[in-house]
Amino acid sequence: MQDVKVESFPDYRLLLEATPTEFGHLFDTILINVTAFFRDPSVWEYIRQEIVPRVIEARGSADPIRIWTTGCSTGEEAYSVAMVFADALGDDDFKQRVKIYATDVDDGALQIGRHAIYDPTSLEAVPDDFRDRFFETVNDHVAFRADLRRSVISAGTTSCRTHRFRGSTCSSRATR
Ligand SMILES: C[S@@+](CC[C@H](N)C(=O)[O-])C[C@H]1O[C@@H](n2cnc3c(N)ncnc32)[C@H](O)[C@@H]1O
Repeated sequence: MQDVKVESFPDYRLLLEATPTEFGHLFDTILINVTAFFRDPSVWEYIRQEIVPRVIEARGSADPIRIWTTGCSTGEEAYSVAMVFADALGDDDFKQRVKIYATDVDDGALQIGRHAIYDPTSLEAVPDDFRDRFFETVNDHVAFRADLRRSVISAGTTSCRTHRFRGSTCSSRATR
């Protein structure tokens, strides 16, 4: 509000209604896109050791497995989920059975996630064997493997109004 020199919320609302581009500025200000592959490593270790085996065990050997990462930002969380499931199931089973729905209200972040091309420094928390197995070098960047990427379906939507999915995973306080 200081940036646009508006002093009251009603006036800011009027400005939002009259200036569609201001929505973009507001979103950029309030949406925090901080994320990382295997952000919160101890949580991911628990997911890998405890949760993934239980999810697989609870399904028949040919049953689909659907996972929702809500508030997925630029995709690192969704691809971390993909890696742990592909590791547990093997590539073929993963490709046949797993769908990861990656949603966020920030279309710019989703666009980055769809390309799945990252700076190599972003792989810091990715185990070495996962780096070799799941990423390809593209010029001076790294890309999540295209054949596995197809199992990640991204969509722009707000988590506040979406009730289509019965389960979710998010390590982000911003979306709890
Ligand atoms: C801090 S990032 C966390 C990313 C990832 N979940 C992680 O933990 O690494 C929070 C993300 O939630 C998104 N977000 C915030 N509120 C949301 C809402 N109501 N619906 C969908 N996405 C939302 C933001 O756009 C941002 O990309």
